[in-house]
Amino acid sequence: MHKKLFIPGPTEVRKDILDAQAEPMIGHRMKAFTELYTGIIGKLKELLQTQNFVTVPTASGTALMEAAIRNCVSKDVLCCTYGAFSERWLKIAKACDRTANAIALDWGKVVKPEMIEEKLKAKKYEAVTVVQNETSTGTRAPIEEIAEVMKKYPETLLLVDTVSSLMGDKIEIDKLGIDVCLASSQKCFALPPGLAVGIISEKALKKAEIVSGKGHYLNFLDIKDYFEKKGQTPTTPAISLMWAMSKQLDKMKAEGMENRYKRHTEMATYVQDWAKKNFALFTEPGYESVTVTCINNTRKISVADLNTELGKRGYAISNGYGKLKEQTFRIAHMGDLTLDEIRELIDNIDEILKL
Ligand SMILES: Cc1ncc(COP(=O)(O)O)c(C=O)c1O
Repeated sequence: MHKKLFIPGPTEVRKDILDAQAEPMIGHRMKAFTELYTGIIGKLKELLQTQNFVTVPTASGTALMEAAIRNCVSKDVLCCTYGAFSERWLKIAKACDRTANAIALDWGKVVKPEMIEEKLKAKKYEAVTVVQNETSTGTRAPIEEIAEVMKKYPETLLLVDTVSSLMGDKIEIDKLGIDVCLASSQKCFALPPGLAVGIISEKALKKAEIVSGKGHYLNFLDIKDYFEKKGQTPTTPAISLMWAMSKQLDKMKAEGMENRYKRHTEMATYVQDWAKKNFALFTEPGYESVTVTCINNTRKISVADLNTELGKRGYAISNGYGKLKEQTFRIAHMGDLTLDEIRELIDNIDEILKL
C-alpha cells in the first residue's frame, strides 16, 4: 500500500504529474528540448516574479549549496547555523577550502538580523549563508529583516537555502535582494527528486567572474552562457523530470501563487494549533515554518511505533532529524497537500494516540 507522504521531502506527487514523466524521450540538443526548458525557465520567472537568472540543474539542492559557495566566495564566508542543513552549508564551505566563520546557535533557535550585523561590522565577508526554512527544526528564519540589514553591506552576497519552502512560503527574491536562492524539486514543488532550482542575481554572476575554483559542473557563467546561446543546459538533463516540472508549473499558475501560499499557511496553523494543544513546538516561538512543523515529544510517545501504526493506515510522517530522533517528530504540510488531507492525518494520529 502506498503511504501518503507527510514527510518533509520527497513530498506526495500527484498521479498526473508522475504520468507526465512518461512523455516520449527527446534529445537534449533538439529544438523540442529548447522549447521545454526555456518554457520552464519562463514559467519559474513568472511565478517567482523574478528578473534574476534562473537555472534548473539536474542535481539535488545540496549541489547548488556547494555551487553558491564555489561561484560566489573566494575566501571569507559567514555561515549562520541552527540546524542540520544550515550546518551542512558550513561543512560545504570548509570542504571547498573557504574560510568559514559561523554564527552557531542551538537547534530550534534562529539567526536574527542584529547577530549578522554585529559580525559584518567586525569583519568583511564576501557572503552570508542563511537557511530560510530549517527543515530539521521546523524553523523559519526572518529573511525579510535579514535582507534589510544586508542592504547596508552591498559588497556581501546573501545566499539563501529555500529548499523546503520555495513555492510554499512567499519569498520575494528580487525585493529582498537575495543573490543566490536555491531549492529542490522534491519539496514544495511536489515533484520527484532530481532537479534543483537556482535563482541567481546579476551581482552574484559578476562576482563569479573574479572567483577562481568554481569547478566545472555548476559553473554559473558556463550555465548562463549555454542558456543564452542555445536555451539549453551544458550537460544532459533529466528530461523526464522536466516534463513533469513543466506541467506542475502550469498547475501552480492555475492555482495561483497567493492561493498556494495561503493553503500552506492554513495547513501550518492547523498542525501547529494541534501540536500546541497536545504536545509543544520545538521551534523558537514566532519563527515557525509554514511548510513543516517540528513537535517536541513532551508525551514521550514512541514516534517509531506511531509511524508504524500510521503506515498500516496509509500515512507516513517523519521522526526527528538526526540527534532529535524520538525527542521530536515532524509533520510536513508542503507541496500539493490540502487542509482536508492534513485533517485526516491528524484525526488518525488522535485515534492511534487516544488523544
Ligand atoms: C533546508 C534544506 N536544505 C538542503 C537540503 C538538501 O537538499 P537535497 O537533499 O535536495 O540535496 C534539504 C533536504 O532535506 C533541506 O531540507
